[in-house]
Amino acid sequence: MIFPPRDKRRPCWYGPIVNPAERPVVEVRDLLPHELAPFIDVLARGMRDNPMHVAALGTDPEQRRRLLHRLFTGFFRAMPTQTPLVAVHGLAIVGGTGVAPPGSCQPGGAQRLRLLPTMLAVGPRRLVRINSWMSTWAKRDLEEPHVHLGPLAVDAPLQGRGIGTQILREHTRRLDASGVVGYLETDKEENVRLYERHGYEVIGEQSVLGVPNWFMRREPMEPDAA
Ligand SMILES: CC(C)(COP(=O)(O)OP(=O)(O)OC[C@H]1O[C@@H](n2cnc3c(N)ncnc32)[C@H](O)[C@@H]1OP(=O)(O)O)[C@@H](O)C(=O)NCCC(=O)NCCS
Repeated sequence: MIFPPRDKRRPCWYGPIVNPAERPVVEVRDLLPHELAPFIDVLARGMRDNPMHVAALGTDPEQRRRLLHRLFTGFFRAMPTQTPLVAVHGLAIVGGTGVAPPGSCQPGGAQRLRLLPTMLAVGPRRLVRINSWMSTWAKRDLEEPHVHLGPLAVDAPLQGRGIGTQILREHTRRLDASGVVGYLETDKEENVRLYERHGYEVIGEQSVLGVPNWFMRREPMEPDAA
């Protein structure tokens, strides 16, 4: 496959990689440093329509995608301890997730300072909503050591073809191999079913900005029992 030239006006730039009937087998591996930009492109497209993003960022889909792109860029630059996973098909990133190792999911003072310009750029009303959302999530964060999953997305046109399942399989394989608890938040009921299939259990529910949110914990399993 030959990559088309990078053109921000194109909604997708990974080329004709998956035919509509295909359930692609992807390679799930650590993100390489030079892949941060395409990874964030995928996250921003894939998560554009999540209910929390509509509630916090507004009803204009393209504006939401742009704001998410900016927020995720600021987030991953400010959080160098992140160890994201990506799903790769051919040469293209088709999905991926942030992964925060134990003790690193809540930004410390220096990281908050690095995030500040990004947060201010979203505008005062959105900033208030995002702060309220993030502080609710932070209060519910597990106190025990855990690996925190997210943001997780599969590129928008490729959702529902088993790519997210392959990402979660690799993520939970790693959790089990290291014997660590997993944790995540989600704003979609259909995601709850998906995560339950990978061993997560709902430990709390709460409405955030008027959107139902589920908080899920996963006990590590014996590697051969998974
Ligand atoms: C959630 C997500 C990563 C799952 O990846 P995926 O490749 O679409 O999922 P798979 O094909 O492996 O598995 C399908 C399951 O995912 C869930 N799912 C969630 N959103 C979905 C979507 N937009 N399309 C299809 N399935 C979706 C369903 O539970 C489905 O299971 P079901 O058969 O019981 O209905 C992906 O759909 C996505 O990026 N969604 C938007 C962003 C998001 O919600 N991210 C998670 C935030 S916590």
